[in-house]
Amino acid sequence: MDLRIKSFEDYQEKYQYSVEDPESFWGEIAQNFYWRKPWKKTLEWNFTEPKVNWFKGGKLNITENCLDRHLATRGNQPAIIWESNSPDEPSQVITYKVLHEQVCRFANVLKRNGAKKGDRICIYMPMIPELAIAVLACARIGAIHSVVFGGFSAQSIADRINDAQCNIVVTTDGAFRGNKEIPLKATVDDALIQCPSVERVIVSTRTRTPVSMLKGRDCWWEDEVKLVSADCPAEEMDSEDMLFILYTSGSTGKPKGVVHTVGGYMVFSSYTFANVFQYEEGQTHFCTADIGWITGHSYIVYGPLACGATTLMFEGVPTYPDAGRFWDIVEKHKVNILYTAPTAIRSLMSFGDQFVEGKDLSSLKVLGSVGEPINEEAWHWYNEKIGKGLCPIVDTWWQTETGGILISPIANVTKTKPAYATLPLPGVQPILVDESGNEIEGNGVSGNLCIKFPWPSIVRTTYGDHERCRQTYFSTYKNLYFTGDGCMRDEDGYYRITGRVDDVINVSGHRIGTAEVENAINMHLGVVESAVVGYPHDIKGQGIYAYVICEKHVGDSDLTRKDILATVTRIIGPIAKPDKIQFVSGLPKTRSGKIMRRILRKVAEGDTGNLGDTSTLLDPSVVDEIKAGAL
Ligand code: WTA
Repeated sequence: MDLRIKSFEDYQEKYQYSVEDPESFWGEIAQNFYWRKPWKKTLEWNFTEPKVNWFKGGKLNITENCLDRHLATRGNQPAIIWESNSPDEPSQVITYKVLHEQVCRFANVLKRNGAKKGDRICIYMPMIPELAIAVLACARIGAIHSVVFGGFSAQSIADRINDAQCNIVVTTDGAFRGNKEIPLKATVDDALIQCPSVERVIVSTRTRTPVSMLKGRDCWWEDEVKLVSADCPAEEMDSEDMLFILYTSGSTGKPKGVVHTVGGYMVFSSYTFANVFQYEEGQTHFCTADIGWITGHSYIVYGPLACGATTLMFEGVPTYPDAGRFWDIVEKHKVNILYTAPTAIRSLMSFGDQFVEGKDLSSLKVLGSVGEPINEEAWHWYNEKIGKGLCPIVDTWWQTETGGILISPIANVTKTKPAYATLPLPGVQPILVDESGNEIEGNGVSGNLCIKFPWPSIVRTTYGDHERCRQTYFSTYKNLYFTGDGCMRDEDGYYRITGRVDDVINVSGHRIGTAEVENAINMHLGVVESAVVGYPHDIKGQGIYAYVICEKHVGDSDLTRKDILATVTRIIGPIAKPDKIQFVSGLPKTRSGKIMRRILRKVAEGDTGNLGDTSTLLDPSVVDEIKAGAL
């Protein structure tokens, strides 16, 4: 079966087929890829353990699909176009042939430094081509990559390295972000004090920031690649071997390592890339995410490259040197598909239309949105000012755990509706349930969003702790994968994701657990206790609101506020800094000691009129104090 869906009727037929006979459907789709040996069984699964195997027994290497198989037909076509943080630095064009060579070379560097199939390798880098090369080089030799977003702190890096017991770290001296220069190697050095498993650190040069290099542990990327050949046969992997770990926040405890495996992830990320964006041969795709997040994994690296597309990597930020940067890039590289987040759209919108005017955006064919609900105002601005009313907007709903897009319009196939992710892609079977897990049938309803059948890139486990995977996703509702999102299905059967129903907040499209932020705040010497909730924020979607009880002698000065922000930055990273900190003398707790977050959420939202029943509180008077001090 051809990868591409061609019309709405075609979509309906394929959807039907994918539900009636998922194994045949995905078996046919998977034929579009290069397998060294065919699989023995298309699917084996249950959601109780859970256990999901797709294409088990099939042998392949994802990099042969992303690189080698394109060499004959499009070796000289750009695979990656790289755009620097600074508009004055020349962009780079890396053809498939050159990318193949560089990946093989770096794969040999990894081997030279002791990496073997199954090893975990941590990658902490800015958005430069070496990041994509390092990711693919791991996949080439069957090592499992764990990319950590360049904005995370030393402590967060250490937690992730230790959880996965990584033996190698790949990083750079520093990073450029807007007008800032960020030291990455120094942060890795701080992290590694706590990481005995790490034997080697490979450092690529970007900023030329002075760094300390430890003899016997650290080496330079540029030196190492000179010592190896450009020939590196790909390791043969089973379809269900691990491809990567990516840490993500949940409602409790530390971030979990979501595991994806080779075959299913390859098939689904490519299938969704080709279909949702209706990618056509030779087009340039610009996904503005960072490869440190799942969106970058699936729609900057693997999906586009497996389809032979040209993928654009941008190192910088949307507002540097000014709020017209995205549009300059679209114009300069004649971008056809632009995939970004509502938070970026809202931010750019707030700078005014003068940054868009006069830019030639006529190359654009499809616009995408991801990461958080898109509000109607942003949708219309994106549609009118950027798409000139000519480009369909695909509002793509998915998660780190889903590996690829699950619910989304298909460009030029599905009729769009502002703020709606619309319909499930073939192979995806959503279901809405009430609090007790009963299916909510029919249209014009709301509930918790679950999926009742596995798709090829569903999360396989949480690294090192399978029980946590079961608990988090498969225990809330029997035999269902629970997404953690609330959702409505309108009269047309269209889905609209309304946001998280658990203690996860979505700040500028980044997932942050309230418990994580509380733990970080509580690390501050002067803090007794804290409670964190999300509240609506014009640009970020949600902001972080922290209620903090301090030791008496510390007081509630601005200085304490700054100290707390510094602590959160040190423990997690700047993305988790609270937007508002309210000092309180007590928190609304039930007699059993549970914090009533519902009340805190209402106050943070500025909705103090109706706080509901507060009679079960241990000390109802704290509510008045909290209301009076609301920010
Ligand atoms: C939210 C990002 C509304 C949702 C790919 C989900 C969305 C979480 C959308 C996953 C969308 C993502 N509309 N909400 N189109 N896309 N979300 O793991 O709450 O970083 O559960 O994956 O983002 O975030 P994650």
